[in-house]
Amino acid sequence: MALSVMGVGASHAAAATDQKPLPVALVDALNKVAGGPHKGYRANHAKGIMVEGTFTPAKSAPTLSKAPHFAKTVPVVVRFSDTTGVPTMPDASPDASPHGMAIRFKRPDGASTDIVSISANAFPVATPEDFLALLTAAANSGPGVPKPTPIEQFLGSHPVALKFVTTPRPAPDSFGTLAFYGVNAFKFTNAHGVSHFARYQIIPEAGEQALTAEQIAKVDPNYLMDELPQRLSKGPVKFRLQAQVAKDGDPTNDGTQVWPADREIVVLGVITLKTVTADQAAAQKIIMFNPLSLQAGIEPSTDPVLLARPSAYGVSYSQRIQ
Ligand code: HEM
Repeated sequence: MALSVMGVGASHAAAATDQKPLPVALVDALNKVAGGPHKGYRANHAKGIMVEGTFTPAKSAPTLSKAPHFAKTVPVVVRFSDTTGVPTMPDASPDASPHGMAIRFKRPDGASTDIVSISANAFPVATPEDFLALLTAAANSGPGVPKPTPIEQFLGSHPVALKFVTTPRPAPDSFGTLAFYGVNAFKFTNAHGVSHFARYQIIPEAGEQALTAEQIAKVDPNYLMDELPQRLSKGPVKFRLQAQVAKDGDPTNDGTQVWPADREIVVLGVITLKTVTADQAAAQKIIMFNPLSLQAGIEPSTDPVLLARPSAYGVSYSQRIQ
């Protein structure tokens, strides 16, 4: 969500009205910023690729949580994505970032749990109301709008959001060389009843690698979507799933606040991606990842952004599935 994305589709834009329920207003605003709605696509993270593999928990995982997938290897489905609701987003565009990694851990009995993460270790705003204000300001700041534009005014009064949109996020070499972050905190409880707040981090085993400016100028608009199947045909793509554990006093209800880097890290296990999902378009359409699809041993924090996400995702899903 680079600064430039705030102008995408602005000519089609109008402010979301206060009368709408918040999840509907959020989805409308995401659609407007993307010049949409784009029929059949997500209102955010519209362009993506789905792949499959396994998650093998580390011995340390049950020390944090008694969730069953932290005790036994399970199949996973992963969707990598470009941000915004623009289905034709060029993968190397600053507007494609932060990228998304949504993970579904499947249990043999049909139950599942999800992690829905981005390639940034913070969110630009602390509340869904501020996210709506940011999106609405962006949608109303197209060419010809007098300065200071609504988005300039918003960013001028929200320094954390300004820092987020001006942080350089170079286009990655591959989805397999990008780190992803859960951003919102969860409360993890182990079999002894001991609880900790923590945030997910998903670190590529191949290391973080970005393209040079010269490479970015030359890459194909679909290079990320095309590269992953090629990489998988040569061997598995692995990520280390870990949790950064909060210390007393660290904010657990505000995704704009990065916790200090010296906080304890608990390694949860390895995600091993092996194959590209068959029938991509249908598979991506039918699935809705939900950050609050949880299992015993993992509970939501009181972060209002986290709590607002499932209903907004549901609105987007109900629109795109028709
Ligand atoms: C109030 C804040 C937010 C709103 C309103 C919002 C809204 C949405 C919507 C409407 C979708 C499309 C859902 C679908 O059609 O299935 C979506 C997808 C997504 N969001 Fe959010 N989001 C928010 C915060 C976040 C945060 C904090 C993260 C990560 C830390 C995140 C990561 C993602 C990802 C990765 C996807 C794509 C999921 C997929 O591949 O299906 N979002 N978001």
